[in-house]
Amino acid sequence: MRVVRDPGLLPERCVLVPTMGALHAGHLSLVRIARDRAGGNLPVVVSIFVNPTQFNDARDLEAYPRDLDRDVHLCAQTGADIVFAPDVETVYPPGVKTPSPKLPAVAVQPGLEDAGRPGHFAGVCQVVTRLFALCRPVAAVFGEKDWQQLQVVRALVQAERSSVQIIAGPIVRERDGLAMSSRNVRLSGDDRIKALSLRRSLDAAQRASTPEQAEQAMHAVLDVPGVDVQYAVVRDAERLEPLRDTRRAVGRALVCACVSGVRLLDNDAWIGPDIR
Ligand code: PAJ
Repeated sequence: MRVVRDPGLLPERCVLVPTMGALHAGHLSLVRIARDRAGGNLPVVVSIFVNPTQFNDARDLEAYPRDLDRDVHLCAQTGADIVFAPDVETVYPPGVKTPSPKLPAVAVQPGLEDAGRPGHFAGVCQVVTRLFALCRPVAAVFGEKDWQQLQVVRALVQAERSSVQIIAGPIVRERDGLAMSSRNVRLSGDDRIKALSLRRSLDAAQRASTPEQAEQAMHAVLDVPGVDVQYAVVRDAERLEPLRDTRRAVGRALVCACVSGVRLLDNDAWIGPDIR
């Protein structure tokens, strides 16, 4: 396992797992998927870069946990070949205007991430484009945990006619059902229990017969003091538009809520009643 800071030292091709570090079992599951895809011939590169352009809050960027030594150790244990940990100046060379790709429509669907984090996906698209240019992956692995991000990256690759294959990894959860996140360490006792209402709201959505009823059921479960709901919706799984043919739909239930200032996301499939 090598740690590379200079993109000139990266291999010609690879399978890439883009991350911002503070790795947990969710990230490591993506490294295993990358290892399977890469086989014995292609190297697996894990990029660790806390991308300033996707944070809309300077304090959030400042407070983002960083522990490269620990991350490198975990990547080595999990079968990665290279950790690519570039400086900000490498990703965004000073004096050179980094082009921002056109934002796909799915990035700005009303009532989702863009409402609470305007500009976030512009930063994600910018850094993903840059990381792909530097690392030249044949395939890249993204987690379903950030479902909208996954759809944004798929749409970006399609719009740019890029040949990078996008592979999705399922959500890895704690034993009690909470989706793993680098932010979970900031949840203390009571908040940790409140945070479980996100997972429970998705379960409630599954039992409803229409998207409207599902959204009502989600809000009912999330009606807990200290849980500040940002959105709780059922949408088309790919474009994240409102669902049309709801009885036979394979949609997605998506929830975002803040618990004591910690912003949490979760999502799950929502299957129309006629095809359950
Ligand atoms: P980060 O939050 O570090 O997440 C890196 C990858 O891990 C993402 O694809 C995310 O969806 C996935 N992931 C996080 N928690 C997961 C879980 N519990 N189960 C499965 N996968 C999980 O997402 C980013 O970084 C950045 O936006 C990035 C794409 C690296 C661009 O800067």
